[in-house]
Amino acid sequence: VSLQDIYDRYLLLIEEELRQVLSIPDQRLSPFYGMMHYHLGWTDESFQATRSQAGGKRLRPLFCLLACQAVGAEPRQALPAAAAVELIHNFSLLHDDIEDNSPTRRHRTTVWKIWGEPQAINAGDGMFALAHLALQRLSEKGLPDDRVLAAYRVFDQTCLALCEGQYLDMSFEDCLDVDIDQYLAMIGRKTAALLSCSTWLGALLGSGDAALATRYARFGENLGMAFQIEDDILGIWGEEKVTGKPEASDIRQRKKSLPIVYVLQQEASLPVSEQRVHKVYRRKVIDEDDVKVVLGYLQAVGARQYAQQMALDYHGRALAELRATGMENEGQDGLWELAKLLVNRKY
Ligand code: IPE
Ligand code: IPE
Ligand code: MG
Ligand code: MG
Repeated sequence: VSLQDIYDRYLLLIEEELRQVLSIPDQRLSPFYGMMHYHLGWTDESFQATRSQAGGKRLRPLFCLLACQAVGAEPRQALPAAAAVELIHNFSLLHDDIEDNSPTRRHRTTVWKIWGEPQAINAGDGMFALAHLALQRLSEKGLPDDRVLAAYRVFDQTCLALCEGQYLDMSFEDCLDVDIDQYLAMIGRKTAALLSCSTWLGALLGSGDAALATRYARFGENLGMAFQIEDDILGIWGEEKVTGKPEASDIRQRKKSLPIVYVLQQEASLPVSEQRVHKVYRRKVIDEDDVKVVLGYLQAVGARQYAQQMALDYHGRALAELRATGMENEGQDGLWELAKLLVNRKY
């Protein structure tokens, strides 16, 4: 199977499920749902339908459906779970853009920049609730109760892990001695947990086999780690016209992304007077010259190569876990293809 086949087969199903969950129940509320539709890439800011691909890659629902197919089940059974993980992802992004002070996402102005922070927080809360309602649609799929109950529990544990990770991410902004382990614990929660949940849900709902689902969860977990490290690389060196976010935005926002953790750690052994990157981060405001200083030191210590290697290591572990499931079929091939797409990604 090719990536094109995967998107052709599943994308419309996912969009249709999402649209049903996010349908507007009352015309007076159409701007409330409209903010969500805008964020998901369906409309422009005047709520006119768009045909642009501005809603994101839909990776998590695709992983969920493919994992369901890989364990030998009908992927449609997992559609409510696929919609739910995509909605949780987008709920987290609605709030993340406020938390990170980000004016742009996916080449467009962020919801809070257009409608203000209070409305964006509330739209995010609405989407959080809708994600749970999306998952409840599992009850219409005729799945055994124990699978559905396990799905609810892991889903909420994942929502919590994601918020824990966001807490750590924000708290690290004011911290200069974040070590690699702390960093890994942070991204494990903010990003890997949801990818892991996506593949786990697909595999568990499809098979009811907890041990098999755990293997798919580990595949998603390791892939999520690699994915966030790639995102960190893009957050510093990604090209704005490709990523849809300003270059070096993570430096301005004092994010302790992996390349920064690495350079700070390298510097820590130097005399304080020579700790140039530390000095930049102690300033109240980081200006464009400061950004250049940081970029120069990142380059000097090979921080990008270091992060790229770590991403490749996690990626390798993800593929090893996928292989260890022992499954061989189209769904499995699809997971493999989609996983490969995430190495050295550009957006
Ligand atoms: C961005 O995730 C946030 C991270 C967890 C790194 P994606 O790159 O999957 O976001 P979209 O939905 O495709 O825009
Ligand atoms: C990604 O956050 C994780 C979550 C949103 C939970 P980031 O802040 O690293 O991702 P981008 O770069 O804004 O998409
Ligand atoms: Mg963030
Ligand atoms: Mg962000």
